[in-house]
Amino acid sequence: MSFQNTPMQQEVRELARRFAQKELLPFVEQDERDERFRPELIGRLGELGLTGVPVPEEYGGAGMGYQEYIAVIEELAAVNTGYAISVAVTGLAQMCLTLFGSEEQKRKYIPRLASGQGIGAFALSEASSGSDAGSLRTTARLDGDHYVVNGTKLWITQGDLAETIILMARTGGPGPKGVSAFILEKGTPGFRTGKREKKMGWNTSHTYELVFENARIPAANLIGKEGDGFKVALRALDNGRITIGAAALGISRAALEVAVNHAKEREQFGKPISEFQGVSFMLADMATQLDAARLMVQRAAALKDEKLPFSTEAAMAKVFATDSAMKITTDAVQILGGSGYTQDFPVERYMREAKVMQIVEGTNQIQRLVIGRALTQK
Ligand code: CAA
Repeated sequence: MSFQNTPMQQEVRELARRFAQKELLPFVEQDERDERFRPELIGRLGELGLTGVPVPEEYGGAGMGYQEYIAVIEELAAVNTGYAISVAVTGLAQMCLTLFGSEEQKRKYIPRLASGQGIGAFALSEASSGSDAGSLRTTARLDGDHYVVNGTKLWITQGDLAETIILMARTGGPGPKGVSAFILEKGTPGFRTGKREKKMGWNTSHTYELVFENARIPAANLIGKEGDGFKVALRALDNGRITIGAAALGISRAALEVAVNHAKEREQFGKPISEFQGVSFMLADMATQLDAARLMVQRAAALKDEKLPFSTEAAMAKVFATDSAMKITTDAVQILGGSGYTQDFPVERYMREAKVMQIVEGTNQIQRLVIGRALTQK
């Protein structure tokens, strides 16, 4: 395992960093307050080739690996997680299609997502099925050459903006085996967005309820066969969890940077607070946790790129990187003291953004369940 970035990985990282600094940073604080997302910036990311990094070239992607992909996600998250997770969630939709879509479905739907012309979403969760995803209640009943869908999805990232949504619905009996996956197009009759969530943070990202009232989805939009849906979703999430780990690296890095600069500049008792061991040990622990998290996320990405099993390592990376981000951002607020708790500095925002990373794409308790099962099951 090399600890050096390849020239390509470095180039992709630089490209994403320049974009984030020049085109995202100027708007971010105000947009967070206004809960505003700028879809045109996803189009711009697409022009730079950064919206389909791991997607095969034949479907309009860059044909690179997860090691390049995580660099993009980290750089975006270091400025704003809304855009990082936007790319990652469109990536989830791309992944469902790449792994399980028919050739026709791939050619029809992936290129617009990979080019940033279209945004994707992933609709699995419901009010009564979050962690217990296999108990979802939205139904899809075959009626001629369409499925008729009824139910409500909850907490769907960019559900309002997405033109292509991977929808999990029940076509069979109870439990995971009764779940199927569909490609849902924006504008499908009987489908609308419902309530928009008001969140603690991560406010450039829109989070919506999706409502289905006899929505008609063409039968040709079934992914795989009936009953495959749970595996489609969970395989995609195995991949997605690496990107959430990468987003956590971005938030942690940004928080550490602010904390280090502040500790060097802020003087108390006649010297910079960085010279007090209480503060410098905190910074040292933050840097060490970030480094360990980075190695874990990179390992999961490298295993994925080498086509080796990576589900457990992805869960470990997600749990460690996001728990670390929570700790690092909380400590950054502490180091900044009174200033850290104000909106004059971004660390309070980083802390709020870190919190959601412990929840999305499988809570950290579910990641531990996945890791625990891998240890004890044959
Ligand atoms: N890949 C493929 N198949 C898998 C799998 C995986 N990672 N994990 C399980 N399966 C298969 C199993 O092999 C089993 O199939 P067989 O019966 O044929 O063997 C089937 O799925 C059922 O598996 P389990 O018995 O393990 O299922 P379970 O009901 O115990 O649930 C779980 C497993 C891990 C808890 C799962 O429900 C889970 O991951 N829950 C969390 C849901 C989640 O991550 N939600 C995120 C929402 S999306 C989001 O956040 C995106 C966003 O907008 C930011």
